[in-house]
Amino acid sequence: MAQIIDGKAISAQIREEVRIRAEKLKEQGITVTLAVIQVGEDPASSVYVRNKKKACEACGLASLSYELPADTPEEKLLELIRELNERPDVNGILVQLPLPEGMDEEKVLDEIAPEKDVDGFHPMNVGCLSIGKPGFVSCTPAGVIELLHRSGISISGKECVVVGRSNIVGKPMAMLLLRENGTVTVCHSRTKDLPEVTRRADILVVAVGKPKMITAEYVKEGAVVIDVGIHRDPDNHLCGDVDFENVSPKCSAITPVPGGVGPMTIAMLMKNVVESVER
Ligand code: GUN
Repeated sequence: MAQIIDGKAISAQIREEVRIRAEKLKEQGITVTLAVIQVGEDPASSVYVRNKKKACEACGLASLSYELPADTPEEKLLELIRELNERPDVNGILVQLPLPEGMDEEKVLDEIAPEKDVDGFHPMNVGCLSIGKPGFVSCTPAGVIELLHRSGISISGKECVVVGRSNIVGKPMAMLLLRENGTVTVCHSRTKDLPEVTRRADILVVAVGKPKMITAEYVKEGAVVIDVGIHRDPDNHLCGDVDFENVSPKCSAITPVPGGVGPMTIAMLMKNVVESVER
């Protein structure tokens, strides 16, 4: 039987650790504060933003909410970011993605002060990760590393295969696994014979955005499988990029969807926000 990696329990533990750290800062007169900016009314984004604000409250952090209409001029958003960069009472700034069509995402993310970039998307933080300097790390891949550590799974010397090469997940995931001394391969849509490559993995991280794409033929006996995907199947049930029923009998450990990687993202965001103050 595969070990089911319990992201719900592990994320609750991290959030509790954040709550204690925030409480200590409060005793020193510091209220840890996250500014959350949403542009437009993408329904999925609204759910994420609401959950982030709720998590702040549960951890004893303050959140400031900026909801801008979809037709906000880009310069107005940049001005708001500059103002928040300057405010000493704001510790972290988060711009929910995706931005409405016509806005230059890169330009917007570049405007966030790197020391307040709790999403870890600023090129400065991405660069720091790649050369092993301290900085903010993208929350989802950072959460995957925490899941592995706290489940007693060692990374050093392991064959790690990442499927997906996005800036938010795949690329930083590969850098983090490398930092942990894994031997890392990154696969993507042009990879030839994907199952042949993924079957080499001791640790397989999947972030492709295709429901139940990874079946048993992609997985080596005894592998650890981490599923970053989240989708609704035709029966309206949540599922991941991995076909859990099909793959789990073959694994030594696996993350479920829901309750695996998902809850870790917001927990790591909370951790980044409190760390932005402690630094
Ligand atoms: N949109 C999807 N994932 C994320 C995330 O981690 N951060 C932000 N800001 N937007 C997102």
